[in-house]
Amino acid sequence: MLTPGLPILASSASQISHEGFGFSGDVYTVRMSGTPWWENAVGYEIYIRSFSDGNGDGVGDLIGIEERLHYLADLGIDAIWISPFYTSPMADFGYDVADYRDIDPAFGTLADFDKLIEVAHRLGLKVIVDIVPNHCSDQHPWFLEALSDPTSAKRDWFHWRDPAPDGGPPNNWASHFGGPSWTLDEASGQYYLHLFLPEQPDLNWDNPEVRAEFLDILRFWCERGVDGFRIDVAHGLAKNPALPDLPVVHELTGDEGPRERFLSLDHVHDMNQEGVFDIYAEWRELADSYDAMLLGEVYIRAGDAARVAAYAGPGRLHRAFFFDPMHVKWSAESLWACFAPGAEASSEGQIGWAVSSHDDPRAPTRFGGGQVGKERSLAFTVLLTMLPGLPFLYQGSELGMEDVPVDPADFQDPVAIRNDNPTDGRDPCRTPIPWSDAPGFGFTAEGVKPWLPFGNHHLSETVKGQLGDPFSSLERHRRLLAVRRELGAMADQTLEWLTAPPEDVLAFRRGSVVVAINVGDKPAKLTISGGPWAVKYATRTERTSEWFDTEIEIHPDEALILVPNS
Ligand code: GLC
Repeated sequence: MLTPGLPILASSASQISHEGFGFSGDVYTVRMSGTPWWENAVGYEIYIRSFSDGNGDGVGDLIGIEERLHYLADLGIDAIWISPFYTSPMADFGYDVADYRDIDPAFGTLADFDKLIEVAHRLGLKVIVDIVPNHCSDQHPWFLEALSDPTSAKRDWFHWRDPAPDGGPPNNWASHFGGPSWTLDEASGQYYLHLFLPEQPDLNWDNPEVRAEFLDILRFWCERGVDGFRIDVAHGLAKNPALPDLPVVHELTGDEGPRERFLSLDHVHDMNQEGVFDIYAEWRELADSYDAMLLGEVYIRAGDAARVAAYAGPGRLHRAFFFDPMHVKWSAESLWACFAPGAEASSEGQIGWAVSSHDDPRAPTRFGGGQVGKERSLAFTVLLTMLPGLPFLYQGSELGMEDVPVDPADFQDPVAIRNDNPTDGRDPCRTPIPWSDAPGFGFTAEGVKPWLPFGNHHLSETVKGQLGDPFSSLERHRRLLAVRRELGAMADQTLEWLTAPPEDVLAFRRGSVVVAINVGDKPAKLTISGGPWAVKYATRTERTSEWFDTEIEIHPDEALILVPNS
């Protein structure tokens, strides 16, 4: 029995059971002197609209998630990150928040959320919620007040500037989603800043009231029992206060999509500013008092793992997502260029590794699609989950799910709808999860039109069709997570590369464990000393009883986990 306010000391997070720790209005302090829960954890991203539809309206929701928690616990997941479920006009499907302390009716109620937390904790699952601090919705009362009354205190919660001398936007900043990052408010004659959609005005983090408000919001969710926060656009909150023009990296021809337009500028003033760390110092203090993890989305320029990792550390965040893996090609050179510096930067586990996400094409699609894409995706997942840091699957990763082609008539993503270049849209990686081959694919009720098309899924691509089949993607992922958990002690071990390009086999050792992947198109040999070795895990399951002394052949697109054969 816990007494409110009584600190509990335990040597490891696994010794703390959250059973019965539901939100009751009392404040419990749980302080741990040992390993934090996220140290050896594997996370799973839930994009709520497409995970599971509990109320049969074609849109996923909190009840739907709750019903599937057993599945995730059985899969071997330690923590779920749920995409935003707050009150929202859905201009960016929840990343435009109109009330940070309530649930959108499309997703359920606060009571549903409390129940979800309770069930998750009973199953040993941690719950990470997605906090969106860089911007809110243009329908948030804060912005409505700022807009309707330029003399109100809320005006300074946002970035307002007079037009440039020619009447145009105050500087050359470009929105991530296309067009300038300024919109004119005709009534006041001033522009407001939005790094994303005009419906997502950026908050002014130089204003102490904004800082205080968000600390209070974080506290609100900690009190409800959440175990951490995924921080949306964590690199964006602080801006150069002078808001100067960005240096132009290359001129545009006019045919570029929003991503290329965005990348034509050197983002030295609009993101990744040192000032952001003052904000996180305050957040860290609060999070630590609840043993909650802070995990930043740090989507900065490619090739700078060290800077991403710098977001995590004492007095800063606990972990920072590094997105270069989302853009690698299937070649030893490309994987090496990403993972060698990434692993080095993550020597203390600072980095969050995402296999896929709701913002980029799914791994099997990125790696060629079909059976080849699925095999590569699993091998890639082996690599990612065995590196120091916090790996995340994205819903459907475990099924080998590919992007689903979406007809322009069905587009939902504003990035696709508002730009001439529909290939920039994120709908194909956001389609509903096929749980079974029943009508509605077990995602929603029969006859209900889902918010995005299902695509065609054969039974073998569904959860139902894969459960229990040792050769299915699902069961091979489950086994990988079980092996990883069993080898958890290696978390303390530094990483040493055993091979490097131009070899097609990339291999590293952590303590007594060796991880190897063949990204070439021919079988290749790995030679290692210190044998005999046993195959602890192979993406091709039939190899798991093999052992060898010094040399093993690895098939194309295959990954192995090797341990001393004792
Ligand atoms: C992050 C989210 C993305 C969203 C954007 C704006 O990058 O992952 O989905 O559109 O922020 O909030």
